[in-house]
Amino acid sequence: MVIRIAAVGDVHLDEDVVGRFRPALEEMPNHADVLLLAGDLTRHGTEAEAQCVAREFGGLGVPVVTVLGNHDYQCNEVPQVVEVLEAAGITVLEGNGTVLDCGGSRLGIAGVKGFGGGFAGRCAADFGEPEMKAFVQVSTESADALKAALHSLDCDLLVALTHYSPVPDTLAGEPPEIYAFLGCYQLGQAIDSAPTTLALHGHAHHGTERGTTPGGVRVRNVAHPVIKQAYSVFHLGEHLEPGEVSRMGSLGTRPAWS
Ligand SMILES: [Fe+2]
Ligand SMILES: [Fe+2]
Repeated sequence: MVIRIAAVGDVHLDEDVVGRFRPALEEMPNHADVLLLAGDLTRHGTEAEAQCVAREFGGLGVPVVTVLGNHDYQCNEVPQVVEVLEAAGITVLEGNGTVLDCGGSRLGIAGVKGFGGGFAGRCAADFGEPEMKAFVQVSTESADALKAALHSLDCDLLVALTHYSPVPDTLAGEPPEIYAFLGCYQLGQAIDSAPTTLALHGHAHHGTERGTTPGGVRVRNVAHPVIKQAYSVFHLGEHLEPGEVSRMGSLGTRPAWS
């Protein structure tokens, strides 16, 4: 049994973008069993922008599961944004997970927005000023929440969904000076602590698509500016080696902006 996972992040919707993804999304049931959104659904996190997301990604005929991104927090309307998305049938994860029945196989998805902090040798440390400790504490608590969610799911295949990156590999192309604001190693440790098959993230618009955690879990940056298509599809199946992922070719329309 193969489970087909469609994914995209950083669609940054507002009124002027609504409709650009929809033609490709209408074909979703033919290509995928589920659509995962890797955060930054909106530009500034307003309720009005969330309504745009609901119109674009609601009623697709497949389950839609998302995490929020930093842009979705900008206007302090997260509760309203979540309410609008959930009303459209979109499952919003933050430190929890969900299990979907995909043709008899149980697909577990654990999600968290995540946070920055950096990676081995170039990371923020829990030392010194209270502000620095608070910054690192957010990274640690977010990773701990992802770890708990990953371990809570009873499923056949396990996927980690974040906005921030769990590895530096998929940041290649971004200025090294901002890696610490694009992800943190603690997320990678959380992913490696569980039998995770695939890790998906966004946020790094100028990054690279493919990476691997230190423990060997495949990581994919599905930020729209990176994949340059409406969504990517990953096939996960029992006939593949653990963690093996194959990616279908270009699907759907390519919106004209990035
Ligand atoms: Fe983004
Ligand atoms: Fe972002």
